[in-house]
Amino acid sequence: MSTEPIRLTKLAKRAGCAAKQPPGYLLSLLGELPKITDPNVLVGNATADDAAVYKLSDELGLVLTTDFFTPIVDDAYDFGAIAAANALSDVYAMGGTPLTALSIVGFPDANLPPEVLVQILKGAADKASEAGIAIVGGHTIKSEEPIFGLAVVGKIAPDQVLSNDKAQPGDVLILTKPIGLGIITTAAKNNEDSLGAISTAIRVMSTLNRVAGEVIVRGGTHALTDVTGFGLLGHLRNIVAASRVNARVFVDQVPILDAARQYVARGIYPGGSNANHRFLHDWVTYAADVTKEEQLLLCDAQTSGGLLAVVPPDRAAALLTALHARGITDATVIGEIVAGPGRIEVARGGKS
Ligand code: CO
Ligand code: CO
Repeated sequence: MSTEPIRLTKLAKRAGCAAKQPPGYLLSLLGELPKITDPNVLVGNATADDAAVYKLSDELGLVLTTDFFTPIVDDAYDFGAIAAANALSDVYAMGGTPLTALSIVGFPDANLPPEVLVQILKGAADKASEAGIAIVGGHTIKSEEPIFGLAVVGKIAPDQVLSNDKAQPGDVLILTKPIGLGIITTAAKNNEDSLGAISTAIRVMSTLNRVAGEVIVRGGTHALTDVTGFGLLGHLRNIVAASRVNARVFVDQVPILDAARQYVARGIYPGGSNANHRFLHDWVTYAADVTKEEQLLLCDAQTSGGLLAVVPPDRAAALLTALHARGITDATVIGEIVAGPGRIEVARGGKS
């Protein structure tokens, strides 16, 4: 009898948000579907936003979102916690407050003992209770790979919705978590995490965007999203496209996990990050001194990444101070919004 610990990532062909379909894939298909005409749908599928918003009354709207994926880490409890934090994040990214959630489960019960599923569900339940909600039900099917995630319902006042389409020239970009999570989890899955960075990555991915979201909503922001499978530049592109503005990102100001820099230099990165980089080619201009490795880091597919806030310039300093004071110490200004048709410019040296 083998006593080898179960490695969940070995059961997943693709891990976490890198398993997401590439950004262009769904957008082209959505055009084939009937247009949403319900006037109570305040945010639907047209602007590639984080979550849908449905108006119940002038005072109250529902925030609706779901996210699920194959194991991003080997430990079942961590997998459940990260998947829950990731799914909840899209509610925070709309400026909303989660109310409750349902779990979505695919489980290979022939290959894995039921204790593994218990641990996944426990990790998610603990994370949900940290967010102040309960997971009240769900649905489980047999599948070849483990799959876990949540469908989350939240609430928001309809006039407080932080959609992707209100970024304005002069606004400042603030990112609340470091990037490079896809590269580090890929290294760990392939036994190439020589720096032992996976524990840091697990801590970052398990961190709820709850506090960051509360501080940003209170501080006042024009647009808000979270950085997940399409990478920092992919999610920023959704904002500049929806808002019809350009963005400038200063690569030397972006918080990047050090191990991810080292691994990408060794050629370690997920296929999803490469796909993001290719997809973004038409929208992003990189300055000549921005290396291919830096480009891949900025496009790296994140799981449960940070919030990306587009903040009026006169509020940025106070917001950053408030984030740091609440323990969001990685929060950093990474660029700005300028007038333009919806492109991103990446350079170095915003401030010297
Ligand atoms: Co999102
Ligand atoms: Co999402």
